[in-house]
Amino acid sequence: MSQLGIILAGGRGTRLYPATLALSKQLLPVYDKPMVYYPLTTLMESGLRDLLVITTPQHQPQFQALLGSGEQWGVQLQYAAQPEPGGIAQALLLAAPFLQGRGCTLILGDNIFHGPALGQRLRAARHTAGATIFTYPVSDPQRYGVVAFGPDGRAAALLEKPPVPPSNQAVTGLYVYDGQAPALAAQLVPSARGELEITDLNAAYLRRGSLNLQRLGRGYAWLDAGTHDSLLEASAFVQTLERRQTLKIGSPEEAAYRQDWIGRGEVQRLIRQLGQGSSYAQHLQTLLDTPPELLEEEP
Ligand code: TTP
Repeated sequence: MSQLGIILAGGRGTRLYPATLALSKQLLPVYDKPMVYYPLTTLMESGLRDLLVITTPQHQPQFQALLGSGEQWGVQLQYAAQPEPGGIAQALLLAAPFLQGRGCTLILGDNIFHGPALGQRLRAARHTAGATIFTYPVSDPQRYGVVAFGPDGRAAALLEKPPVPPSNQAVTGLYVYDGQAPALAAQLVPSARGELEITDLNAAYLRRGSLNLQRLGRGYAWLDAGTHDSLLEASAFVQTLERRQTLKIGSPEEAAYRQDWIGRGEVQRLIRQLGQGSSYAQHLQTLLDTPPELLEEEP
């Protein structure tokens, strides 16, 4: 049975006030496309076609207007609402009726990943027992969940926003879980800030000896677009790469076309919908004009 891909795109977005007073953070643009396109594309590039988008009740209609049923990209999108931001681990409880015992890949709606063969690494993680987390070396680990390593070099503990970080390996917003995740999430107690912490869920897997750690090292970019500065930096990063290469980052159309989930006709229809004025649409036309043998094998 195939896994469910979950995009967690609720939250308050208080660090982006006033930009997010009326709008969802994950619908704000990162350069040329809405932020949620990036995590959606990461899931699609890993081969997942059965997807759940969790939003606030208030913003759900806008996500539905933007993303629809997913049919246009050859995927199935379903929606669930998180009434209050009760923590990232709450996503597993909200997703339980959709999971029905299956494993899942969870990605945060404001996380942008870029790097070689991430799709393949996610596919491999899905075939690994337990849970898999992806870590990234950061210059400011005290802002994140951080891995403490034991003398054997294996993960010994996970610490949420430690004032004195034991390493620079931050846990990114991309997690692969087996079918046990909802049951383990149901045993969590809210933290001092009133949230079901994803760090606590991952720590539960660690205690059971079934937490796998994957490092995203050199060659990978991991950005979260949760502050005014990081949002601008993410836009600049995407602009730089997209203007230099004829490749788009975070394009669900491109991910679907490369995997043959949609054909030329569907891409042409999407281009017509967007109109010739959009450089995004012009890129999709370039994609269609590229001989198939020149399209990369693995996104
Ligand atoms: P955060 O950036 O930690 O929280 P936030 O988006 O509410 O922003 P702020 O701190 O500025 O108020 O969340 C990371 C991602 O997880 C983001 O995409 C929103 C999502 N999220 C939820 O959907 N529900 C939640 O309960 C939490 C805590 C986060």
